[in-house]
Amino acid sequence: MPAASFDACVDAALEQLGTPDGALLPLLHAIQAAYGHVPADTVPLIADRLNLSRAEVHGVLSYYHHFRKSPAGKVVVQLCRAEACQSVGADALAEHAKARLGCDFHETTADGSVTLEPVYCLGQCACGPSMMVGERVHALVTPEKFDALLARARSDA
Ligand code: FES
Repeated sequence: MPAASFDACVDAALEQLGTPDGALLPLLHAIQAAYGHVPADTVPLIADRLNLSRAEVHGVLSYYHHFRKSPAGKVVVQLCRAEACQSVGADALAEHAKARLGCDFHETTADGSVTLEPVYCLGQCACGPSMMVGERVHALVTPEKFDALLARARSDA
C-alpha cells in the first residue's frame, strides 16, 4: 500500500473527527475499517498528525488486541472467553479450535483463511459456549458444531 494512500486515509479520518484531541482510538478504528488492520506504515503518520511519539501509538496498538497489525484471514472466528462461557466448556472449545486451526488467539491459519480471536461476552451467556463466525453469533457450540461451522465458513469464503 503506497504511503500516499495512508496519508489520505489518516487525513480524511482526522478531518471527520474534527480535532486531534482524543482522536487516537477513533483514528485507529477508522484505519482498521479502511484496511482491515493498522499497517505499520501508518504509525509515524498518526504520531505526526496527533503530536504523539511513535512509542505512544505503538503502546496503544499493543494494549488493545482489537487492533490487528496484519490483515485478517478471509474468515474471522471469535470465541467467547468470558466467565459464563468458561463455566460451560469454553476452555475446552478454545483448545479444540487452536488445535483444529493450528494457530493461537490473535493469529491466522497458515493458509490465510481463518483468524482466531478471543472476545469477552457476546450477549449469549445463557447458552454458551458462544462464538462468532464473521458477523453471525452461534450458541451452544460444541467441538463438533465448531468443525461444522468452520467447514461451512471456509466453503463460503
Ligand atoms: S459470557 Fe460468553 S456470551 Fe456472555
